[in-house]
Amino acid sequence: REMPYLRVPPSMLKRQTGRKGKDAWMAINGKVYNITPYAQFHPGGVPELMRGAGRDGTKLFGEVHPWVNYETMLAACLIGLLVDEPVGDS
Ligand code: HEM
Repeated sequence: REMPYLRVPPSMLKRQTGRKGKDAWMAINGKVYNITPYAQFHPGGVPELMRGAGRDGTKLFGEVHPWVNYETMLAACLIGLLVDEPVGDS
């Protein structure tokens, strides 16, 4: 079944570093991926991939391999959309 996208603000992304028992998430071009299941297959190695963990890796990714078709490769790892931090209601 089609599920709505999870909306992920930077504060939520920041906690997903792959440490403390949590999966590693990385944003690329506005989409947030769980990179933990993919990590062992990354041709550049786990530590290199994890430089983008818990943050927006768009720039890092583009500096190293802009030709890589991450959208297809990570389709099953899509978590949601990176959104602005909500401002407190009151
Ligand atoms: C290589 C995928 C994120 C660093 C590769 C290659 C693929 C890939 C397919 C082989 C490319 C080729 O030979 O043409 C991905 C995916 C990423 C990701 C799907 C997103 C989740 C990153 C990040 C970094 C990085 C964030 C670094 C900050 C590297 C490096 C190589 C590499 C250094 C070169 C390895 C070598 O040829 O020795 N990656 N990558 N990657 N990746 Fe990534």
